[in-house]
Amino acid sequence: MGYQPERHDLLRLVVQAAREAADVIRDAAPRRGSIDWQSKGATDFVSEVDLAAEARILARLTAALPSATVLAEESAAHTAPERLVRGLALVIDPLDGTTNFLHGYPEYAVSIAVLEDGEPVAAVVYDVPGDECFTATAGGGSQLNGQPIRVSTITEPTRALIGTGFPFKDPADIPAYQAQMSRVMAQVSGVRRPGAASIDLASVAAGRFDAFWEHMLAPWDFAAGMLLVREAGGEATDLQGAHLRALGPSGVLAGNPVMRGWLANVLA
Ligand code: IPD
Ligand code: CA
Ligand code: CA
Repeated sequence: MGYQPERHDLLRLVVQAAREAADVIRDAAPRRGSIDWQSKGATDFVSEVDLAAEARILARLTAALPSATVLAEESAAHTAPERLVRGLALVIDPLDGTTNFLHGYPEYAVSIAVLEDGEPVAAVVYDVPGDECFTATAGGGSQLNGQPIRVSTITEPTRALIGTGFPFKDPADIPAYQAQMSRVMAQVSGVRRPGAASIDLASVAAGRFDAFWEHMLAPWDFAAGMLLVREAGGEATDLQGAHLRALGPSGVLAGNPVMRGWLANVLA
């Protein structure tokens, strides 16, 4: 393999790209009423802002890392998993929480992860309206605006706040999800569905959520967030508890180790 930049250099690069994309999104927010958006599926939308933010990220990162493989939601969504497990790869969600953005609901982010041989080694989730920059490097811990963060220490379900995402793209999955929701709701302090999976995982890393689950996410939704969680002392797995890999779609279960384990049992 050729020259590999240090992880902190990779992080600096993806943070810069995320901030530039955030500027694109922030500049567009005041004219959201006139933004052109189109359906990708019945409840799945893409706007000109998603496309412009992704173009900005790719211009920055492909110039700096020309040999990296790219998996990006709006322009390179079908990169084969085999290509992601060799050398450097960039996994990019230029605007996570598009529906929130289009409605002016202040919960959306830019999410970028760098994989090395298939595993995340540098990650940024930049919450645009909150101006919160979550970062992590493998072995280097997780930070919020440069300050170290850790998962929560709550181990009592009755005291726990749980994040989730609804299975809004697959109506057939709703009954099974509702059954899980009933069991979880009956036992915890609260459940939240903010609507941007990358921020949900950042919230686990920062100890705001004690655990999180969602049935089906794309790798660009969780690649950065899973590193944030792990580096903050938490666990991120698939719904069966197996090692989570950002190489294809997957269910995601995350939390501090105790609450992730508890949630896994309740969902099963
Ligand atoms: C969506 C958000 C949402 C999750 C969906 C994702 P998008 O991403 O992360 O929270 O429930 O599954 O698709 O489409 O806004 O980038
Ligand atoms: Ca997303
Ligand atoms: Ca997106």
